[in-house]
Amino acid sequence: MMKDLDAFQIDHETKSFEALKADLRYERDQALRYWKSIKKRYVYRGRQYRAQEVIDWFMAAPYMEVKAISEELRIDWKTIGNDIRRIADPLSGLEEKRTILLGPKASFVEDAGVYATPRIVKDIEQCYFYHTIDLPGYGTIHGDWDLRDGIKDYLGGVNFRGKRILDVGTANGMICFNTEKQGGKVTAFDLSKDYSWNLVPYTKWKEYEYATDWHHSHIDSLNNAYWFCHRSLNSNAKVVYGDVYNIPEQIGQVDIAIYGSILLHLRDPFLALQSGTRLAREGVVVTDVLRDETHKLKEPYLRFLPDPETSEPKDTWWDLSPEFVVRVVKVLGFENTSITYHSQTFKGDKIRLFTVVGRRTS
Ligand SMILES: C[S@@+](CC[C@H](N)C(=O)[O-])C[C@H]1O[C@@H](n2cnc3c(N)ncnc32)[C@H](O)[C@@H]1O
Repeated sequence: MMKDLDAFQIDHETKSFEALKADLRYERDQALRYWKSIKKRYVYRGRQYRAQEVIDWFMAAPYMEVKAISEELRIDWKTIGNDIRRIADPLSGLEEKRTILLGPKASFVEDAGVYATPRIVKDIEQCYFYHTIDLPGYGTIHGDWDLRDGIKDYLGGVNFRGKRILDVGTANGMICFNTEKQGGKVTAFDLSKDYSWNLVPYTKWKEYEYATDWHHSHIDSLNNAYWFCHRSLNSNAKVVYGDVYNIPEQIGQVDIAIYGSILLHLRDPFLALQSGTRLAREGVVVTDVLRDETHKLKEPYLRFLPDPETSEPKDTWWDLSPEFVVRVVKVLGFENTSITYHSQTFKGDKIRLFTVVGRRTS
């Protein structure tokens, strides 16, 4: 009976020992300060062990060994576990062990080969401007959307200083250049003429193929406008071209992913968000159009807009409610969320939009 109880106890403790190892999250400065205050505990048989040595041993050792040594040290093994918990992060080598314990953890490393070669666009006639933008030497270039006065609201009031940013669907780059000006390091992502816009494939729409081709050259003009602004603003932002459903991991880890008015144009908004947010360690900003119907509902809501009777709209799929976006970003690990509302200027009219900011929690 006692033997069974011992075995049960050891089994139980082994499990909590493993669970404790698996729960490793620490702040660097705190950890270093903490190590200074506890290192005298780790003098074993006359030798002072370094933090990394203690971690390496603890992470690799079986429970019975840790228990035996902790008894010699006259401290509870749980105290050692808690020490490891607080000192582990600043020290190299842990990430690998954490991966072994927790399974593969995505780590996205930047690969310069993924970036587009900057284009030199000298002729403004080759450009399509989606955003109104002020350019040195050219003054105000008018586009469809004028976000100049409302950009702070458009981006949910987030502070981008010192952040690595992924601007998904950059168009001619208003968000990219604005966040760069705030002190962000930006990678702009968009379609190029080699990728297709998700047009709604109404079978009654005879010009579908033609419209797809037209979009390719339209996107080329939009890309031209981006590079025109990039040069004029002396920007250091980088560009990756591709499809939003397959944002390349070679971009590496970013702090914040921004999805400005793109989800409504995509066949699969969830996949699009999943694709970019997997690179974002800190937060996501999603802005989209607010329609009266959805605003009243106050619940997660995604309405399919294409109407087979009229074959309209052609390049817009969804009416998304802010609560729907909140729900999606929570599923993707950004559970601390906020919603704000604002108006922006589209071809002289005021349009209501919403912005969801999600902060990563898991
Ligand atoms: C309506 S504009 C929004 C521009 C800007 N983000 C903003 O908030 O003002 C949509 C942008 O998303 C891009 N886009 C549309 N479909 C895409 C796709 N499947 N993959 C990548 N980008 C896409 C378009 O080329 C365009 O630049």
